[in-house]
Amino acid sequence: MAEKRNIFLVGPMGAGKSTIGRHLAEQLHLQFVDSDQEIERRTGADIAWVFDLEGEEGFRIREESVISELTEKQGIVLATGGGSVVSKEIRNRLSARGIVVYLETPIEKQVARTQRDKRRPLLQTEEPARDVLIRLAEERSPLYEEVADIVVKTDEQSARVVANDIIKKL
Ligand code: S3P
Repeated sequence: MAEKRNIFLVGPMGAGKSTIGRHLAEQLHLQFVDSDQEIERRTGADIAWVFDLEGEEGFRIREESVISELTEKQGIVLATGGGSVVSKEIRNRLSARGIVVYLETPIEKQVARTQRDKRRPLLQTEEPARDVLIRLAEERSPLYEEVADIVVKTDEQSARVVANDIIKKL
């Protein structure tokens, strides 16, 4: 923790990155930032709108530039979007600039936490959310593992407990 003063949370939709990130930031006296929220702040539009107007491709370009910029900072806890690790550029940035924590989350938990959520465009399809989440996990889990310095399981534990678990492993 001495030189690497950033913590980057990666993991799928519904892993609890934002909630856990807020707890971590509070306990470690760091600044909390969320890449999706930052994109929304800068564009003045919500993520669903960005997908509608610019497609996933446009969103990914914004995501890469926001994460590159945020990782220049020091002393932040950053909750990244679940798909950000698909970019090798982003994986390299995260590894170079901080401690990467993968919140490993069972599919059933992801499904439960993203239910009734209209904010995530990738889940607003004809295909059941569970199938989408399984497909994404197949593609992305190896990438989360590859980029992670620390892996923490999130299941039944509260965000505060998971945050404490992370702190112990730093
Ligand atoms: C996405 C995850 C979302 C958001 C966007 C795409 C993904 O972030 O960036 O809807 O590709 O998994 P969360 O992981 O915070 O839900």
